[in-house]
Amino acid sequence: MPSTTLDTVSGPLFYFSPPADGSEPYNRVNTDSNSTLPLSNWAPEKHVVQIENVRGKEDLYLLDEAGFQYLKHPACHASFTDDDEIQAEYYPESADLIKQVTGASRVVLFDHTIRRRIPGQVDTRGKRQPVKEVHVDQTTASATARVHLHLPPSEAPELLKHRFQIINLWRPLSHPAFDMPLTLCDYRTVDKDTDLVPVARIAPERRGETYRVKYNPQHRWKYLKGMTPEEAVLIKCFDSDSSGSIFTPHTAFIDPSAPEDCPLRESIELRALVFYD
Ligand code: OGA
Ligand code: FE
Repeated sequence: MPSTTLDTVSGPLFYFSPPADGSEPYNRVNTDSNSTLPLSNWAPEKHVVQIENVRGKEDLYLLDEAGFQYLKHPACHASFTDDDEIQAEYYPESADLIKQVTGASRVVLFDHTIRRRIPGQVDTRGKRQPVKEVHVDQTTASATARVHLHLPPSEAPELLKHRFQIINLWRPLSHPAFDMPLTLCDYRTVDKDTDLVPVARIAPERRGETYRVKYNPQHRWKYLKGMTPEEAVLIKCFDSDSSGSIFTPHTAFIDPSAPEDCPLRESIELRALVFYD
């Protein structure tokens, strides 16, 4: 393993390993805090990898190449305390930003998640925690299903004839995210045919599917140390055009170089359907 350099930290990441009994893997999400159901039926596999801090070199990573792209773009919306206000104020400005960066003709935001880390807290509805396992939010099947879910039958089939993507817009809230930062895997180092495993995502309201990721020593992991609320990152989760990046695996990780007393991570991610003419 290469030695740690000034720009690189080593962090344990949690990859996929299949359920020992051969059953279909699942994760349960948005459970109530009193739920006793198992949250998953597979065991994460720990691998210590080198993770490069790309601060100062952010511009080398582009959405259609690496699968992610850092932006310097403060939000106008400031409070991030009320879901209705977030939808009324933060959604439209974010849709405009995504259009501006990608050149898309239409952006439909369909979800947001605020995460505030509470040590020892399991991930439940309303208390979402940083994600501790390497994943891709959508599979090809669930990406297509999202279009039918969020757009009327009069529009979805036509939109699906053209290029479409699912992109997340992720940003720290309140203070720089030194604590449990988000790391992203350069798409060009992923084997799209063998590294991904579809895993059922069981929520009380619906069943979906995400990808978990098998360890591959070729993966190259990046992060932007101390990302501020004035910075954001676009995370590609799906692209119907497979000539460039299609997705980027990502996860939170414990950064051994984080300042000791840094405030706990707070962030928001928006999920967007992104359409082209
Ligand atoms: C995401 C995501 C995890 C985190 O934005 O899609 O997986 O810890 N976030 O913020
Ligand atoms: Fe994600």
